[in-house]
Amino acid sequence: MFLKIVVKLLIFTSPVYCFVGYIGGFQYLIKEFASSVSIGSTPKHETRWMEQKLDHFDGNENRTWKMRYFKRLDFWKLNGPIFLFLGGESEASPNFLYTGIMYELAKETNGAMYASEHRYYGKSIPVNKTTVDNFKYLSAKQALADNAHLLRLIKSKPFFSNSKIVVVGGSYAGNLAAWMRLLYPELVDAAIASSAPVLAKKDFYEYLERVNVDYEQYGTRDCVNTINKHFTRYETMFETQEGIKKLKEEENICPENDMSIPENKQLFFLEKATAFMSNAQYGNTKIIKDHCANVNETKKYLLFDEPSFWIKRSECNDFDFNNMINDNYKNKINGIVCWTYQTCTEYGYFQSTSSNKQPFTRNIPVDFYVKLCTKAFGSEFNDTRIDDGIEDVNKMYGGLQPNVSKVVFVNGDLDPWSRLSILEDISYDAQAIVIPRASHCRDLFSNRENDHEELKEARKNVKYLIKRWINAEDYIVN
Ligand SMILES: *[C@@H]1O[C@H](CO)[C@@H](O)[C@H](O)[C@H]1NC(C)=O
Ligand SMILES: *[C@@H]1O[C@H](CO)[C@@H](O)[C@H](O)[C@H]1NC(C)=O
Ligand SMILES: *[C@@H]1O[C@H](CO)[C@@H](O)[C@H](O)[C@H]1NC(C)=O
Ligand SMILES: *[C@@H]1O[C@H](CO)[C@@H](O)[C@H](O)[C@H]1NC(C)=O
Ligand SMILES: *[C@@H]1O[C@H](CO)[C@@H](O)[C@H](O)[C@H]1NC(C)=O
Repeated sequence: MFLKIVVKLLIFTSPVYCFVGYIGGFQYLIKEFASSVSIGSTPKHETRWMEQKLDHFDGNENRTWKMRYFKRLDFWKLNGPIFLFLGGESEASPNFLYTGIMYELAKETNGAMYASEHRYYGKSIPVNKTTVDNFKYLSAKQALADNAHLLRLIKSKPFFSNSKIVVVGGSYAGNLAAWMRLLYPELVDAAIASSAPVLAKKDFYEYLERVNVDYEQYGTRDCVNTINKHFTRYETMFETQEGIKKLKEEENICPENDMSIPENKQLFFLEKATAFMSNAQYGNTKIIKDHCANVNETKKYLLFDEPSFWIKRSECNDFDFNNMINDNYKNKINGIVCWTYQTCTEYGYFQSTSSNKQPFTRNIPVDFYVKLCTKAFGSEFNDTRIDDGIEDVNKMYGGLQPNVSKVVFVNGDLDPWSRLSILEDISYDAQAIVIPRASHCRDLFSNRENDHEELKEARKNVKYLIKRWINAEDYIVN
């Protein structure tokens, strides 16, 4: 019931959806693991707005906009460090100034806490209109420069002159945390990169391979086979007119949807796979096991009450690709549009069925996502543009071998995103921590009763490393 309310809230009041088909869903994590904090009627944090350049790299562009950030100083004592929680592809939350690993670090080291909101997300919208042209200032590079500008502003206060700076981020913002150390090493002293898919990749077939492994390892016997039977049955039904007719009835697909159109069919398969994807990404071994027990009851097993944002449900389930584009992408600036733009221009991350080592058949090709890019943003956002963007990103930031120190890369091995992250130490000062049976970004939150020992141990290790890197030994509290 609780989950149901959360999801409804996300869908109807927040500009950001449970973006499980993609990387996001961070709002879900916050609600689930960081919402119990009491901010109260007299919050200990302040909300601030600062002026940022629209384009940090073009001297002729002098337009500016206002970025939102949160600030909390009540733990801070002279020479204590500064912590910045980097916003990612969703609205920023002040909750991380009240709970979680950064909060604990700040408390234990007399630190100052900040949280920034990423340009184009939440309330930090730098552009007025919604034409594609206005998205051109949306990139990690610009966002990193925004955060550098914020940190310089903070450091300009004389009382902070001896304070070390630590940045923290999860998921895409985990990339940003590592890349802040890469691009601004003189400003940032250490970083936590949690579940950070630092390698940009167009055909991210490894995602569903990991979902497969999770269900093999933690599901009931024969679970993966059963999943495959269901998906193969769908595939067979799509082959004939009678089959499509029957499927439309079974799945309450809108009568006017032409399910012989490839994109509509692909959307159907993506929608069906999303339930398994979200359970692997955000769930735990028990959720996966329970899902398997109910895998034949199509509606009963979802972590999120609504399986995904992809399709619209009213009287019937609308699987029309063009409707989906018009509803979600046309003339809008919201989390979905902006994150899709970033995948189309920088990261790819297209969760395809290109691999044989997964049970979802082969009906979600990379082409589906390329079509999404061109339909949503225009014909120039084609394969060439996507490939070039990915190449540039990996060149600029170093992919799986970023030239960084004092960064800890943390991943949960259940999390399919871990396949694009750093799972082995790069050096003594750039370490990797892999948490068995943990999902996406769980290390960023505080210990809970049901957390297993390895997760608690990982949080302790992360805190130890950060304290060592900022010379906070004096403050180490066990
Ligand atoms: C911004 O630049 C334009 C031309 O590039 C110039 O006309 C304008 O005065 C500038 N505005 C400010 C506030 O500097
Ligand atoms: C948005 O509109 C405001 C007010 O009309 C203007 O001052 C600002 O420069 C505009 N921003 C951009 C990025 O065009
Ligand atoms: C689900 O249905 C398949 C046949 O469609 C059957 O082989 C399998 O045993 C069933 N699994 C469960 C858990 O009931
Ligand atoms: C993509 O579009 C550009 C022009 O915007 C064109 O030069 C290029 O050949 C196109 N690539 C593909 C794969 O169609
Ligand atoms: C890595 O970064 C260091 C400075 O932090 C620099 O001296 C070195 O040349 C870089 N290595 C490469 C391969 O870019």
